[in-house]
Amino acid sequence: MARTVFAERRRRFLNAMDDGVAVFKSWPVHPRNGDVEHPYRTDSDLFLLTGFDEPETMAVLVKRGDQRNYILFVRPRDPEMETWVGKRAGIEGALKDFGADEAYDSAQFFDRLPALLTNQPRLYLEFGLDTPFEGRVSLAIEALKGEARKGLCGPWQIIDPRSILWDMRLIKGDEDVALLEDACAITVAGFKAAMQAVTPGMNEGELAAVVEFEFRRRGSHRVAFETICAAGANAATLHYIRNDATIADGDLVLIDAGAELGMMSADISRTFPANGVFSLLQRRAYEWVLKANDAAIAAVKPGTTYAKVHEAGLKVLVEGLVDLGALKGKVKSLVETGAYRPYFMHRIGHWLGADVHDVGPYFVDGASIPLRQGMVITIEPGLYFADAPATPKELRGIGIRIEDDVLVTHKGRRVLTDALPKAVADIEALMADRGAWWKAVQPVTVPVRKKPGKKH
Ligand code: GLY
Ligand code: MN
Ligand code: MN
Repeated sequence: MARTVFAERRRRFLNAMDDGVAVFKSWPVHPRNGDVEHPYRTDSDLFLLTGFDEPETMAVLVKRGDQRNYILFVRPRDPEMETWVGKRAGIEGALKDFGADEAYDSAQFFDRLPALLTNQPRLYLEFGLDTPFEGRVSLAIEALKGEARKGLCGPWQIIDPRSILWDMRLIKGDEDVALLEDACAITVAGFKAAMQAVTPGMNEGELAAVVEFEFRRRGSHRVAFETICAAGANAATLHYIRNDATIADGDLVLIDAGAELGMMSADISRTFPANGVFSLLQRRAYEWVLKANDAAIAAVKPGTTYAKVHEAGLKVLVEGLVDLGALKGKVKSLVETGAYRPYFMHRIGHWLGADVHDVGPYFVDGASIPLRQGMVITIEPGLYFADAPATPKELRGIGIRIEDDVLVTHKGRRVLTDALPKAVADIEALMADRGAWWKAVQPVTVPVRKKPGKKH
């Protein structure tokens, strides 16, 4: 992404903050076992403001009247370490490629912090995430107050910068939408591959690998979250990521997956029959979830609220539960009493962006917030019939979720994932050629993506 996008975000953040200093920090590297580390992903807020994705990074933004300063603390170049784990931008790169006014070795952060905080009215710092770090910052502030006789003082106020960033991140810019569109297109390709590759007898993990193989070869470097590939009753576990059961003939398969691209996440769910054809009962249940998906998507438009979108989907799901014989009674009272919860236990969806469950308020002063142009929301109704005594016998083992990613536009909505079939006839048509994926898999060419920060 062009360096100017990150500079513009910093400008917007600085304009929104009051005079003071803002500090953002990266997540640490998480050890896995032995000498192995979990794949590294930096903090979304830090990245969105800097484009810098290395560990051990602190970004500092300073505002005093018209004065602005942007400082990066980064890992210095280290030829030996780089031989083992890869290139670093280093201090030179932070200045040259990432637009910092000043850059230092991250090891110097706490040495330089008192000078940065001296006589500043306030500090913006995300708290509750890294308490040892926050503790050291607090001690630095306290030490400055002890220097009052020398005319020094630390900030009196500490403000969580997410009070600004949550609103900024809720409304996506053109460049965010472009990345989301690409992430969705890659994810759609992964799902189509799965629908054309599945066959009873396969392992869930094998099918998840087909999805992720398509993500990778289309330019996504990692998944937005662990792929969920759940056959039969496993689909009633909402975040099922074991993916190690055999897919049986007659199972429905629920896949919930998303490619991440440029730190933007797609998030799609589809449910399809392992053998290519829905049974009558599976189809009946599926079409209720599809109707709920359609109703909730149709409700998405500027000015309506998140709660109204949820209610539009929920009402249809409860009608479905009555029709399917899982619930008895009037839809209105079943909604009010929450009697549907054993079969639908989550909300209709969530904000989507750099994080799959993206940041941003859902309620302000107790009221569900109105949708605005530029928001992106997932719409993901589901019905889950666990293999449990309380579930009507014939429905046991059916778990369905249909999830789309929806951009709120000026007048209504745009479904970013509408290239992926979800009508029964369309899914069955795509699956008529099951096995085709294995024969047709050919290398694809993806455009070479430049590193963030490099101008292009
Ligand atoms: N993939 C997690 C979710 O749909 O919320
Ligand atoms: Mn999902
Ligand atoms: Mn979701």
